[in-house]
Amino acid sequence: MTFAFQECINPACKSTFDVGQVLTSCPNCGSLLDISYDWNRLPVPSSMSFFQERWNNRLNPLDYSGVWRFRDLLPFADDDQIVTIGEGQTLLQKNDRLGALCGMKAGSLYLQYEGLNPSGSFKDNGMTAASTHARMVGATMTACASTGNTSASLAIYAGVTGLFRCIVFVGSGKIAYGKLSQALDYGAKTIQIRGDFDDALARVREICEKHPIYLCNSVNPFRLEGQKSIIYRVLEGLGWQVPDWIIVPGGNLGNSSAFGKALMELSALGLIDRIPRLAIINAAGASTLDSLVNDEELVWNRGVTNSTLIGQYYSEMDQSGRRALTLASAIEINRPVNLEKALRALDVCGGVVRSVSDQEIIDSRAMIAANGFGCEPASGATIAGLRMLREQGVISSGDRVACILTGHQLKDPDLTVAYHSNNPELHAKKLHPSGVFSTPFANAPIVVDNEEAAILQAIGIV
Ligand code: F0G
Repeated sequence: MTFAFQECINPACKSTFDVGQVLTSCPNCGSLLDISYDWNRLPVPSSMSFFQERWNNRLNPLDYSGVWRFRDLLPFADDDQIVTIGEGQTLLQKNDRLGALCGMKAGSLYLQYEGLNPSGSFKDNGMTAASTHARMVGATMTACASTGNTSASLAIYAGVTGLFRCIVFVGSGKIAYGKLSQALDYGAKTIQIRGDFDDALARVREICEKHPIYLCNSVNPFRLEGQKSIIYRVLEGLGWQVPDWIIVPGGNLGNSSAFGKALMELSALGLIDRIPRLAIINAAGASTLDSLVNDEELVWNRGVTNSTLIGQYYSEMDQSGRRALTLASAIEINRPVNLEKALRALDVCGGVVRSVSDQEIIDSRAMIAANGFGCEPASGATIAGLRMLREQGVISSGDRVACILTGHQLKDPDLTVAYHSNNPELHAKKLHPSGVFSTPFANAPIVVDNEEAAILQAIGIV
C-alpha cells in the first residue's frame, strides 16, 4: 500500500512522510498532518452508490463496518491489517416534530445518531482507523487524553481486540460517570490528573513523544480518516443527496476537520456536485473557535493563518486564568488542537461558528430526547445552534439540515436526572453554577404512597 502518505497541511511546507511513521505533527514545521492519497493510482468508484453494494456482503466484517465499507475513500491500510469491531452502524433519522420546534419545514431536519456506535459515541469511527494504524506500526501500548468518550472508545478497542494495552488520561472531576465507568470496565489504565482536559492532552502528548506509546487523540491524522465516514453515512441516509447544512458540536475540532476533508475529497473526486455548509457549535464556556473566528476574524487564508493572533489569544487566556467551563463536559476544551484544520473546513464549506449557553444546550438536549432517540449534552449544542441560526435567518426553514448527535443519551445520566428532577438542592448543585435556572422540558417523577387510589390520581385516571 504505497499510494497513501502523510502530508503537512502548511502550504509553505507540504512535507510528506510515509504512512509507516508515527507522527502527530510535521517534524519540519510543527503543523498538523493530513493523510493524502495519490488518487490517480487508486481505484476510485464512479459514484457513491457503489458503496451500497458492500452491504450485501456484510458477513465480511470490513463490509459490515460503517467505516470500512467506504475503505476506498481512506485507503491507507491493507485489508488484513484493518481493526474493526463493527463500528458505524448508525442511523440518520428524519425528525419533523423536533424540526417544527426549531422552525423547520417538514422533511428538513435529520439527526445522525452516532451514539449507536459500540462505545456509544462517534469516536469509534476514528478509533478503528487509529487502531488499524497502531497495528500497522506494531504499537503495543496506546494512550489518549479525554473528556470521556475518546477514553471509552480507545478502551473498548484495546479490550475487544487485545492488540495493545491502553492508558487514558482524564481531568479530575471533569468526566461524566457513564464514560468513566466504560474506561474502567474495559480495563484501561486510567490516570486521573489534577487539571482539566487541556492539561491532560498537553501531558499525554509530551509522554507519548518521549516513550514508545501510540497517541490516539485527534492530532493523530489516521483517526480523522475514520471520522470522514460520518459524512459518507449522512449522504447514504439521504440517498446520496447533499444536505444544505451539517451542524456539529465543536470541542477539539476533530470532527469538523474530518468533515471538511471528506467533503473536499468527495468534491475533488467528482463524487458530489456541491459542498454543504458547515455550522460548528461551541459551548459558550469553551468558545475559542467562536471568539477567534467571529471576534478576531481569524481565517484559513490558504493555510497562512495568523499564528501571532492565535498565540496572543492563548497567552491572554492563560494570563487571565480562564479555563473552559460548561455542563457539556465533552466539549469543555479551550485549546482545540485541530484549530487550523477546522479553519480550512470552514473555508471549504462556507461555514459558520456559533456558541450557545449551557441553558440552551441542556434545553435542546431535553427537546431531542423528548422527540427522538436522545443524546448527551454536547450533542444538544447542535439543536441549540440550529435554533440560533434559524432566528438569525442564516438557515432557512426549508434548508435540509443534518445535525450530528455525537454521543449517547446514557453517557451522562446524572445531568439528565438533575434536569428532570424537581429537587431544588440537586438543581442548586448541578445546574445553577452553570447559569441554568429553568428546566422547561422537565418530566419529574411523581412520588406517591404505594396505594391504588393515590397511584390512579397521579396517573390521572380518577
Ligand atoms: N461530542 C461529544 C459527545 C464528544 O465526546 C466530543 C469530544 C465532541 C462532541 C467534540 O468533538 O473534539 O471532534 O470537536 N470529545 C473528546 C473526548 C474531546 O475526549 O472524548 P471534537
